Amino acid sequence: MIQEHFNMSCGQTELTPACKRTIGRDVIPIYYPPLWEMEHEALSLWKEFLGTKNDVIIVFGTGTSGVEASLNSILEPGDRFLVARNGMFGEIMSCMVEAAGGVAVRLPFPIGDPVDPDAVAAALAKDRSIKGFGVVHGETSVGVTNPIRELGAVARERDVLFLVDAISSFGSEALQVDDWGIDLCVVNGQKCLGAPQGNTFVSVSPRAWKVMGDRKQKIRGFYMNLRACQDYLTMVSAERQNWAAGANQVEFALQEAPHPASPSFVLMQGIWASLVAMKEEGLAACIARHETAGRAVRAAVKTMGLDYLCRDERFADHAVTAVLLPDGIGDYQIRRHLYDRYGVVLGDGNMASWEVFKREVGRSYVRVGTMGEAARYHKVVYAVFSLGMALQDLGATVDIDGAVRAAQAVYGTERDRQ
Ligand SMILES: Cc1ncc(COP(=O)(O)O)c(C=O)c1O
Repeated sequence: MIQEHFNMSCGQTELTPACKRTIGRDVIPIYYPPLWEMEHEALSLWKEFLGTKNDVIIVFGTGTSGVEASLNSILEPGDRFLVARNGMFGEIMSCMVEAAGGVAVRLPFPIGDPVDPDAVAAALAKDRSIKGFGVVHGETSVGVTNPIRELGAVARERDVLFLVDAISSFGSEALQVDDWGIDLCVVNGQKCLGAPQGNTFVSVSPRAWKVMGDRKQKIRGFYMNLRACQDYLTMVSAERQNWAAGANQVEFALQEAPHPASPSFVLMQGIWASLVAMKEEGLAACIARHETAGRAVRAAVKTMGLDYLCRDERFADHAVTAVLLPDGIGDYQIRRHLYDRYGVVLGDGNMASWEVFKREVGRSYVRVGTMGEAARYHKVVYAVFSLGMALQDLGATVDIDGAVRAAQAVYGTERDRQ
């Protein structure tokens, strides 16, 4: 039985070495300076990496909680919110609009294609009552990246709120919150950053805060509530100053409650350590590493005679490639085989089982994640080799040598082999 696995999944990815060394190293008392300092540094790094002067707040939950808290906080019952979707996480966003009491105006795009900004502009022009729109940056379920810069221009032109789920794209794709006009940008650690799942970060523009401030009804939800999350940081900021002064110098006023829940020191240790590691690597270098890894996987897949869901190379997700399987080979069959025989963990193709998408996808597929620590030369080459071997073991004819060489060729020189 294989004890260690190569994690090429698209869910919780491998932790960075710095993160592994830091998590649980000490028990940091919460509501005390060491945690505040870590939070402060982490939030500054998020702001720097996201290119924003907006507030960045912590939501105590996995990525979904950041999207749901954003929608809960801006939508009142009956508010119309457009979701431009080309995969599962976009559809999930629509479900969360409905759960928040809003009306989800679904704008679906074919699986494999990106969201089209002109179609979004036309939908907003047709229905002036729409309060905002949301889109997923890297649609992890299909391996397609959406054009956020162009979509942000549409949002600003129409003066509606713009929500972006950048949960899996952060660290693998360029993302500029302020320049691209993003009001609510949701990011977290468990994908390209290589930190544990469980804390999520949302950048919130003054426009979005104003919408929350102007609500007629209270935000539905206590935990999934951006104002309560903001309260926690208001309190931390005052506490840091009061602690430094050794006195109750700074008064603070809370909107909802001191915090939606108590903060997790262990998750903050992990996020902080991985953000510092990303700073050392450099965000641009990190994105380039992911871009190379994604290209290498796609080159290998093509050489195997297979295809992937993304139809237009310009929108191929650097962090995930959704590989269509040959007829007769199922998702579970190959993932189980890869897990048992080669110790490789891939992402599932479960979207094909959701009624909404079943007919459209119509084929089994698996996803090769090149996120965080998985976006490294030796892991990519081994994953490609193992995928080829597993396909061959299960009866397909594949050019394994050619596929490995194609991946290596993308990496080119020794310098690129990180
Ligand atoms: C684009 C995207 N959005 C949302 C989520 C959900 O995040 P979480 O599982 O952390 O709640 C994921 C996770 O795979 C994702 O890839």
